[in-house]
Order: sequence, then C-alpha cells, then structure tokens
Amino acid sequence: MVKYPPMKEQINTLQTQALAEITSASDEATLEALRIHYLGKKGAVRAFFQEMAKLSAEEKSVAGQLVNALKQAVEEALESRKHQLKANKFTDLDQKEWIDVTAPGIQPPQGHLHPITQIQYEIETIFRSMGFQVFDGPQLEDDYHNFEALNIPADHPARDMQDTFWLTNGRLLRTHTSSIQIRAMQGQTPPLRGISPGRVFRYEATDASHENTFYQVEGLMVDKDISVAHLIYVMKVLLKEIFQREVKVRLRPGFFPFVEPGFELDINCLICGGEGCPVCKYEGWVELLPCGAIHPNVLKACDIDPSVYTGFAFGLGLNRLVMMRYGINDIRYFQSGNLQFLEQF
Ligand code: FA5
Repeated sequence: MVKYPPMKEQINTLQTQALAEITSASDEATLEALRIHYLGKKGAVRAFFQEMAKLSAEEKSVAGQLVNALKQAVEEALESRKHQLKANKFTDLDQKEWIDVTAPGIQPPQGHLHPITQIQYEIETIFRSMGFQVFDGPQLEDDYHNFEALNIPADHPARDMQDTFWLTNGRLLRTHTSSIQIRAMQGQTPPLRGISPGRVFRYEATDASHENTFYQVEGLMVDKDISVAHLIYVMKVLLKEIFQREVKVRLRPGFFPFVEPGFELDINCLICGGEGCPVCKYEGWVELLPCGAIHPNVLKACDIDPSVYTGFAFGLGLNRLVMMRYGINDIRYFQSGNLQFLEQF
C-alpha cells in the first residue's frame, strides 16, 4: 500500500510552473521552446518517467498516473495557448489595417484626353449643332474607296500627292478620310451632311509640320443647289467657333481630283503672327483646309445624280489646327508620348 504518492510534490510544482509559463508565452516560438523544454526527449516530464524506474512496481503505477496527468495537462495548455496566439494575430492585423471609412479619400491621378481627341470632339459638337452626322470608316482601306471612287484612277499623277503605305495584298493604310465620305455617300441618298474624323497615314519624311500619321476631319454636304457659298459659310462658322475669334484666312485655287472647283484655305500663322517661322515655312500662312465643290464623277461613283444634286467637301488637318490653337511649334510632339507636353492640355 502506497501511503503517499511518490514524486507528487515535484510533479505539482512542475505543473504549476509549466502552466504559468505556457499561458504567458507571447509568441509561437516561445511556445515551441516550452514544448521542447517540458515534453521533448530530454524534457522535464520525460525525466519523471526516468525517475519512475527507481520505484517499486506499486509506487510506479501511482506515480505513472500522476506523470501522465502532468503530461496531458501540459499538452492541453500548449494547444490552448497556440489557438489563443493565432486568434490574437488576427486581432493585431485588424488593428494595423483598421480603416477610417469616414476619412476623405485620396484623389488618384487622373488622365485626360489627348489634345487632338479634345479638338475632334469639339468639332463634332460644332457640326452636330449644324445638323451634320458623324461617320466612321476603316483605317485599312482598298484602292477603290481611297482613290478610284475619288476620281483618282490607277495611272493618275494625283496619286503622287499622297505617298501611300501599301500592303502586300494590294490594300493600303488610308491616306485621307475622304474614303469614309465615299462609304457614307454610297450608303445614303441626299440630302446628306456629315463629317468623318479619323487617323490617316502617309509615307512621308517628318518635319515641324509633317507627320507620317496624323488626323483629319473631312466634311461634306450634298443636296440640291449646294454651292461654294455654303462651303465658305460653314468654314467660317467652324473657324470662329474653334478659335473663339475672327482669324485671318485666305482662299486660293487648289487642285484635288475629287473637287471642281477646288480651293486651299490657309490660315494666317498664329505661331509667328504671319511674320514667318519653321511651322509656316517662313510664308506667314499655314495650309489648313483644302475644300471645293464635289466633282460630278465622285457623285456618280456613289450613285448620286450630279444633274440633280451638288455638294461641297473639305478636309481639315487636325494636328495643324491644334498647333495653331495652342502655339505648338512642332507637330512631332503629338506622337512623342512626352507627358510634360501632354499634361499641359
Ligand atoms: C486631302 O487629304 C484631301 N482629301 C482633303 C480634301 C477633302 C480636299 C475634300 C478637298 C475636298 P491634303 O493632302 O491637302 O488633302 O490634306 C489635308 C490636310 O491634312 C492638309 O491641309 C493638312 O492640314 C493636313 N496634312 C496633310 N499632310 C500632312 C502631314 N504629312 N502631316 C500633317 N498634316 C498633314
């Protein structure tokens, strides 16, 4: 009969100490160190099992129960503390990432439209207010819509006026937005008025006023009794709205196979005030807007009877218009991707 359970006091002392240390462990690494200290191969609990070897069989059985209870208590304490630490981790994270949803937001940097797009939209608004539609068309064109239907047959010298990027399959990158006008006229019957803004391409060397990729807005009006007087009126409205003041313009004869008569509308250079600079090639005038009365052959190509209907057309160079408006002295800025330039608009 065992009167007093052997090793009881040491076991109790150890259990009290182990549970106190475990419940106050501040992180998982400390907890792991305690696990090894108490339950590891050379740990304090294992030491009791070794001590038990010295006891009688009867004492061993009593002491064994106590040591097993100690082992279980330490294991449970370790497990429970582990869960607590894990839960605390989330609470800490919540506190670190706490968001004041009532605080004013941070304004993200805002992009804006390219100056050419801005002026394109402005022009669309001006023309819509005069009852014009806005047409669209493909940048990859065929010979017929870019040249043939515009009274420029294959052997016509006027093809040289617009150096062309040809594709190996005989198609081309449109050299002007007149191709859209053809598609629009073919799809509708007069009366008809519309504009066609878009990107165009020419196989050209670049300089301060020439790009190989630039933007145009072409426009046309077809109805009975349309004359050059209508054309001049619409052009004056357009330029006044864009520049918000009277600008000096001049009309001179110009040749384009798709208009007859044809004109060049030049604007007095707003960069140098007409005194001469690289943009106006020291002439004081910038070629801005060719125009004229639509050639009867073009109307015929679009199944419009030229003995009944007449029309005018114009083609505005958008890049040069923006240059005049803001005093930009080199057309190459537009495609440069230079943010310092773009952020000014
Ligand atoms: C044409 O493209 C005709 N389709 C315009 C037209 C329409 C005439 C209807 C008559 C009736 P032109 O090649 O001149 O024409 O180009 C028109 C405008 O585009 C020019 O006045 C100019 O402002 C601009 N432009 C022409 N070539 C370039 C270039 N390489 N770089 C920048 N702008 C250019």
